[in-house]
Amino acid sequence: MALQKDFLWGGATAANQCEGAYLEGGRGLANVDVIPHGELRPQVMRGLYTMDRIDENQYYPALKGIDFYHHYKEDIALFAEMGFKTFRMSIAWSRIFPKGDEEEPNEEGLKFYEDVFKECKKYEIEPLVTITHFDCPMHLINTYGGWKNRKMIDFYKRLVTVLFTRYKDLVKYWITFNEINMILHLPFMGAGLHFEENEDQTQAKYVSAHHELVASAWATKIAHEINPDNMIGCMMAAGNYYPYSCMPEDVWAALGKDRENMMFIDVQARGYYPNYALKFFEREGIHFDISDEDREILKNHTVDFISFSYYSSRCITTQEGVGETIGNAFKGTKNPYLKSSEWGWQIDPLGLRITMNTLYDRYQKPLFIVENGLGANDVLLEEEIDGYRVSDDYRISYLKEHIKAFKAAVEEDGVDLLGFTPWGCIDLVSASTGEMAKRYGFIYVDRHNDGSGTMQRYKKKSFYWYKDVIASNGEKL
Ligand code: BG6
Repeated sequence: MALQKDFLWGGATAANQCEGAYLEGGRGLANVDVIPHGELRPQVMRGLYTMDRIDENQYYPALKGIDFYHHYKEDIALFAEMGFKTFRMSIAWSRIFPKGDEEEPNEEGLKFYEDVFKECKKYEIEPLVTITHFDCPMHLINTYGGWKNRKMIDFYKRLVTVLFTRYKDLVKYWITFNEINMILHLPFMGAGLHFEENEDQTQAKYVSAHHELVASAWATKIAHEINPDNMIGCMMAAGNYYPYSCMPEDVWAALGKDRENMMFIDVQARGYYPNYALKFFEREGIHFDISDEDREILKNHTVDFISFSYYSSRCITTQEGVGETIGNAFKGTKNPYLKSSEWGWQIDPLGLRITMNTLYDRYQKPLFIVENGLGANDVLLEEEIDGYRVSDDYRISYLKEHIKAFKAAVEEDGVDLLGFTPWGCIDLVSASTGEMAKRYGFIYVDRHNDGSGTMQRYKKKSFYWYKDVIASNGEKL
């Protein structure tokens, strides 16, 4: 069994990392705008340092991004040249509802995305739209406390109703929340959470997560009512935990860490909190109300597909003195059998196959790999060679191995996979570090860590390689 004929090859981006134009088109300020580059960034992302407005002494890379707002036609034409069947992008909530709690949406924001979707359709590219990729209007954070507040469910319902109605004929594939489990690691970035000095952070995170999970189920219900053809996905930052050793304690620890992440998808895909989660809440003294209506919505409106990002597997031990690694905000034990990227993220293609099998065994719903890739320092060549200006064989090799792994999961293990959208198909601002130097793209963007650069786009060697991969439906690697 080869990949299905209509396999959705493409690439992925997020509004906050590429759009820029943060004050144009009536857009309001969002949490993602006020996360600075530099020393303060980790504290701000974790909600431990309150940043609620633009501070002139800081540099905020998201405010300009790669200026996709003004370059989208050129960028989508390049995606089309590579043969993209799909393009994953996200909506900036504060373009549609600048403050978040208005009754009426902002027409200029709606029109912008309509134009982007139409541009995709011109090339028969299917948009795959993340409704919230880490962003939340600042007004909702400053006034209501972000997702800690149950009122957020209603604001989100209003947002999705507008989106599903307006783009009924343009968008079919939707993702409710990007990496919903990231709320546990980067709570300000993931859900607009700031913490007071003595606040119980675990409690606040799980209350907020519950609100997001209920909002996600409402979105699924509303999407299906507006258009029964809509396909709604949950999205998790995935990558199985391996026990560092075969000590039963390490195996048990790995199971626990996997459950921490899977809990979100268990709720979104099966419709209820699993017993291990209820016991965890009880043990930790975590309390939140699950109303009868919440239960009904969660139960009856589960997602259509499971999407996830995969950069690496993870590893855990109970033993002391073993080295640590921090890939994609998940701290863990360093796996001695794996190599690492320049940013210390470990590289494990087989881990993708393992993760896919785990998810498919558990949920029996189609999977969608909506992020994967290698963040690397690229060098722009002085002269073009065969049409490209960056010789990124390391990226080709990373992606090639991961494609082989997911093909094996499909062809040899029978996993149902809808598509593959590698992360940052065009260079964009790094979420974890705010750097431009951490590049993932097939297309190089002339922008740098200090904000300098012309924003000009250049093709990399991987651009032509990926084009062949798509044209051959993954046969020519
Ligand atoms: C995922 C996020 O966690 O990883 C993306 O969904 C992010 O927004 C990507 O950009 C890669 O991480 P980074 O930190 O290298 O940009």
